[in-house]
Amino acid sequence: MGLRFIFMLTRNDRTVAEAADHLQTALSLGVRHIGFKDVGLPIEDLKALNSAIKAKGATSYLEVVSLDRESEMASAYGAVEIGVDVLLGGTRVDDVLPILDGSDIQYYPFPGEIVGHPSILVGSIEDIAESARLLAARDGVHGLDLLAYRSALQDIPALISAVCEAAAKPVIVAGSIADPERITSVKEAGAAGFTIGTAALDGEYPTDDEGLAAQLAAIVRDVATLNGHLSPFGKKNLDLAFGTFEETWSPRIAGQINNMQIKLAKFEGDFAWHFHETEDELFLVHRGRLLMRFRDREEIIQEGEFIVVPHGVEHCPVALTETCEVVLLEPATTINTGTAQDDRRIDDLATV
Ligand code: NI
Repeated sequence: MGLRFIFMLTRNDRTVAEAADHLQTALSLGVRHIGFKDVGLPIEDLKALNSAIKAKGATSYLEVVSLDRESEMASAYGAVEIGVDVLLGGTRVDDVLPILDGSDIQYYPFPGEIVGHPSILVGSIEDIAESARLLAARDGVHGLDLLAYRSALQDIPALISAVCEAAAKPVIVAGSIADPERITSVKEAGAAGFTIGTAALDGEYPTDDEGLAAQLAAIVRDVATLNGHLSPFGKKNLDLAFGTFEETWSPRIAGQINNMQIKLAKFEGDFAWHFHETEDELFLVHRGRLLMRFRDREEIIQEGEFIVVPHGVEHCPVALTETCEVVLLEPATTINTGTAQDDRRIDDLATV
């Protein structure tokens, strides 16, 4: 699974008044993980946010607001009442686990010692990693929420790495991430995800355009880049591609889909009778007319039509027009002449 970006509808530890609008912006951009806090809006509004998140198939998160026992337990009860997918943060595992018992809520408490408000993570890397190990070993703890950038430690990536290794469960890095370099270091350190709230709402992430949509679009683009979820391919135009070569009976590779290749071929006159031991072939006529001869019948395939020839079936393609431009879809192992002996066999296909 790739690095998770969790968009928090929060500023200064409160869910913002415009959360419902911001949520629609995020959902329209395909943000898959969205969180809020149980302070700032009435619980009915939070329930509506949660329903809207889940209606789009996204995952909802409630983050514990502060660290006194009462408000931490209130957050846990709120998580159950609202029905969120994940409860982030908090340190009182013994108080919270019984509240979550019987629910489907995933629980990601804070490792290490948290003090003050705004919260600061204190202690050495070794102390925090040991806390992570003990917490993550508990039943009912599904991951950890690490306030990595709220620590006074110098080497934050080393802290994240140590906690990820000690926990052996997903680690979310919360707070103070507002640029692609930090997202990269979070991923390289082995974290499962990170949260951004205030930084995006306040326009701190580097973008060319203003507004929340531009902020979120830049973050999801950078996360997709890190996760390898961007395509290197542009569109191809068949007329232009067929215009790049003249040779007939000489298929060109125009693309690949798993182990299938898209080939472009120009047919002229008759080809050889042949069949393929294991490969099925699709012939789609782009320009001209194709006659496909079978042992029991013939089919004429016009522009915009296609025919599938299953493996093992003898066939003989014939161009009925001077040349016939055909798009082929077939396994990459397919030899144009099948099992037939024919000097038009081509083993090394050029690409277009
Ligand atoms: Ni064939």
